Amino acid sequence: MIFDSHAHYDDDAFNEDREKIILGLKDKGVIGVLNCGASLEGARRSVELSSEYDFIYSAVGIHPEYAGIVNEEVIEELRNLAQNPKVKAIGEIGLDYYYEENPPRDIQKAAFKLQMELARELKLPVVIHDRDAHKDTLDILKEFPEVIGTVHCFSGSVEFAVECLKLGYYIGFTGVITFKNAKKIAEVAKVVPMDRILVETDCPYMAPEPNRGKRNQSDYIEFIIEKISEIKGKTIEEIENITIFNIKELLKINK
Ligand code: NI
Repeated sequence: MIFDSHAHYDDDAFNEDREKIILGLKDKGVIGVLNCGASLEGARRSVELSSEYDFIYSAVGIHPEYAGIVNEEVIEELRNLAQNPKVKAIGEIGLDYYYEENPPRDIQKAAFKLQMELARELKLPVVIHDRDAHKDTLDILKEFPEVIGTVHCFSGSVEFAVECLKLGYYIGFTGVITFKNAKKIAEVAKVVPMDRILVETDCPYMAPEPNRGKRNQSDYIEFIIEKISEIKGKTIEEIENITIFNIKELLKINK
């Protein structure tokens, strides 16, 4: 069984067959999905999806790519959306220094901090997006010691992972771990304790081998679990059970 800790079923890539794909997931062993908003519209659609399907939960937040829109009014709308009982986290939020066309770093940091404050206020975990911004991300996480969450699609070093673990964060593994030459992330998987591992699609992106390049969906996580079971020397069932347990702990589901 699978719990996908990071998906974007609100994405336009699913416009043609969203309902069919989502309903099909249950037959393929997917028992839970955290759908993460990226834009404000995405956050709204994420909450709608989680209201429509019992096994979908939502996170609301503004991705660093759209950091320029974050102001008090937007924070207020996120606060209101988060009143819905299916909203279990603030995300995805963070920093992305990879694309030059992204908002300036100061704007990204300000938007990130405002949303970390919201998570602290609402006592919700966060879903962190960090691309080529490990140092600044870590500095901001440290400013909010009361907040925990997941570093989604983890792309840092072992040292950075250890720092995130110390702060109480979980580490999210995507299909990248199944790629040939994915040595760095395999090293990270070796050191992350079992009780801090999460699995995720980041669909429609990041499809694991053997589906690399295709549109991704939550049941493909079986290939990620297979790879982690090899790395950790555990059975597939053990990895399935612990990753489901971990995400339910983090999101406070069934408590
Ligand atoms: Ni994402």
